[in-house]
Amino acid sequence: MNFKKASAFLRIFFPFLVSFGLTFLLFGIFTVVKFNTYEVLILKKELYGLFFSFMIVYSVITFILVLLLYKRIRKISHYAGEVSQGKQASGPREDREGVFRHLITNIDAMSDRLKDQTESAGQEQKRIFAILESMVEGVLVIDAEHKIIMANSTLARAFDLTQEDVRGKYFWEVFRDSEINEMIKKSLSSQTQSKREHPALLTDSIFEIQVSPVFGGLKFLGVVAVFHNVTKLKALERAQNEFVANVSHELKTPLTSILGYIETLKNGAIDNVKDRSEFLNIIEDHSKKLHLLIEDLLVLSKAESDRQKLKKETVDLEPMLLRIFRFYEKPIKTKGLTAHVELVPKPFSVLADPGALEQALSNLIDNAIKYNSPSGSIDVRAVYEPGTVRIEIRDTGIGISPADQTKIFERFYRVEKSRSRELGGTGLGLSIVKNIAERHLGKIEVQSLTPKGTVFSLILPQ
Ligand SMILES: Nc1ncnc2c1ncn2[C@@H]1O[C@H](COP(=O)(O)OP(=O)(O)O)[C@@H](O)[C@H]1O
Ligand SMILES: [Mg+2]
Repeated sequence: MNFKKASAFLRIFFPFLVSFGLTFLLFGIFTVVKFNTYEVLILKKELYGLFFSFMIVYSVITFILVLLLYKRIRKISHYAGEVSQGKQASGPREDREGVFRHLITNIDAMSDRLKDQTESAGQEQKRIFAILESMVEGVLVIDAEHKIIMANSTLARAFDLTQEDVRGKYFWEVFRDSEINEMIKKSLSSQTQSKREHPALLTDSIFEIQVSPVFGGLKFLGVVAVFHNVTKLKALERAQNEFVANVSHELKTPLTSILGYIETLKNGAIDNVKDRSEFLNIIEDHSKKLHLLIEDLLVLSKAESDRQKLKKETVDLEPMLLRIFRFYEKPIKTKGLTAHVELVPKPFSVLADPGALEQALSNLIDNAIKYNSPSGSIDVRAVYEPGTVRIEIRDTGIGISPADQTKIFERFYRVEKSRSRELGGTGLGLSIVKNIAERHLGKIEVQSLTPKGTVFSLILPQ
């Protein structure tokens, strides 16, 4: 026991020691020594009186001291209580130097440590929330009491919810989709993982939902549901399936016909000169269609694969257009069409991939010939606009209705299937043009008033 501790001890117990000392001393004197003289008896009486008055004064002082002590202990216990609740408290200042200084210092240290731990736990939670917030998947965290702890903004956006709609609510109050609720409920009760694909109610989206239990050691804390939006993926899958079905159908129709005529020829028609030449012509016709279709499919698949990267260069437009018109000379003549090219200034240069640009213009001119009226005209015009070039191909043909204008760029879409087939169309030409325009970061536009002809505009950034 060092000097400081001893003095503190003495300060507290001094009144006790004095009173006990005095009492023992007096009793000792009066019991051991038998004084019986009158003066001594008076002295004895007075001493008793003194002793009892001292005891009364001492009791009062002790009572006051205990009261003060009780008040201080109450203050300290209040301080400890606040610290235990994680509140910001400063503690009784007067005791930092007094007898309770060790206790207060320890509570202070505890408070500091608790503050540090709470702060770092808060930061950790903020970091985790920030990670969940930045995820492209929707995330929903639910505690073991079925209440929502957090829903990230991707999820809130997908289900049109605000943070106020969500926080602290039971999940079944927020999500009106019974299948989603059932899934979460099952995972919460069985504490196991579940996964399914589900077109969520009141949204246009299909989600792959995975609900996983969360444990802290052995304790079950709740579940985390991750919503992965697979709508685009599903649409792509559907488009792919449709494309395969369309290609198979387009290939099957001429092939069935070719096989049918070959069969007929083999069964005797080959001996009839008239039938033979007619059937062979039909077979040739269908073979040409198949050839065209396969060529267009190859162009499309080449255009869509990343392998065929664009090689942009300065292209002189006039010789390219003349080359295309020369290629279509025969059908133009047959239909009695007149073609006209207007380019200002000359030479008219365009920054584009030459092969892709020629393919796109060929497809547009091919349509302007095929869907034109007899003795109609085709006008090609190119103009520079701020940052772009606009190449217009105008015809005087049957035109395209507004409803069809939105669909003609889809693969295999034809306004009049039989007419297009008759003209040797595959239904792929405009989807190839659109693909080429988009790969140049440009676009293709159509304007048409049935039956007054059509204008296709290929717009490319320069
Ligand atoms: N210049 C045009 N005038 C009228 N209709 C057109 C024109 N260009 C395209 N179309 C319509 O759009 C459809 C799709 O065109 P496209 O993709 O080139 O396929 P196709 O092989 O049938 O020509 C055509 O079948 C036709 O109905
Ligand atoms: Mg075409």
